[in-house]
Amino acid sequence: MHKDITDVLLTAPQIQEKVRELAEKISGDYAHTELTIVAVLKGSIFFCTDLARHLSVPCSFEFISVSSYTGAAPSGVVRLLMDLKESPEGKHVLLVEEIVDTGATLHYLQKNLLTRKPASLRTCVLLDKPAPRKVPVSVDYTGFTVPDKFLVGYGLDYNEAYRNLPYIGVLRQSEI
Ligand code: IMP
Ligand code: MG
Repeated sequence: MHKDITDVLLTAPQIQEKVRELAEKISGDYAHTELTIVAVLKGSIFFCTDLARHLSVPCSFEFISVSSYTGAAPSGVVRLLMDLKESPEGKHVLLVEEIVDTGATLHYLQKNLLTRKPASLRTCVLLDKPAPRKVPVSVDYTGFTVPDKFLVGYGLDYNEAYRNLPYIGVLRQSEI
């Protein structure tokens, strides 16, 4: 275990099993439909690529980048840093994010994408941290519900570090 991690909340095998389960469910729901996966940079790329490897439906990928966190605190203000390359108009869009916390990021992204008239829009998150929720958001596919702790690994960062840990762990308080 990394020295800055106090507990491993989800091991790599636990994450992979859940990712396979989610992919099966999504593949069933979208049978015979071409999917446009919109991954939210940077955090969701680990989840997104693992998920996509288990999907049995054809899919293409788009990336969007937003910023809402400064260190370990949500700023509440969501800024678009990088937009999609192709328009999602008429596409069946699956928005993929690694965690929903206050809900501000997903709320912003869902609203933004809906204005561009996709054929459908659903959201998939690996982690749901319900305690800090400020903006209600609807999520169609959720992996795990997690406690209100600052988590890192499997895409989750603290000031850009720890994203590449294969597991999800609780960051030591003295590091924050
Ligand atoms: P929200 O807008 O508050 O729902 O937060 C969503 C974004 O905050 C996520 O995309 C993450 O980048 C970040 N975030 C929320 N909770 C954590 C955490 O525990 N560790 C690392 N990043 C987090
Ligand atoms: Mg993120």
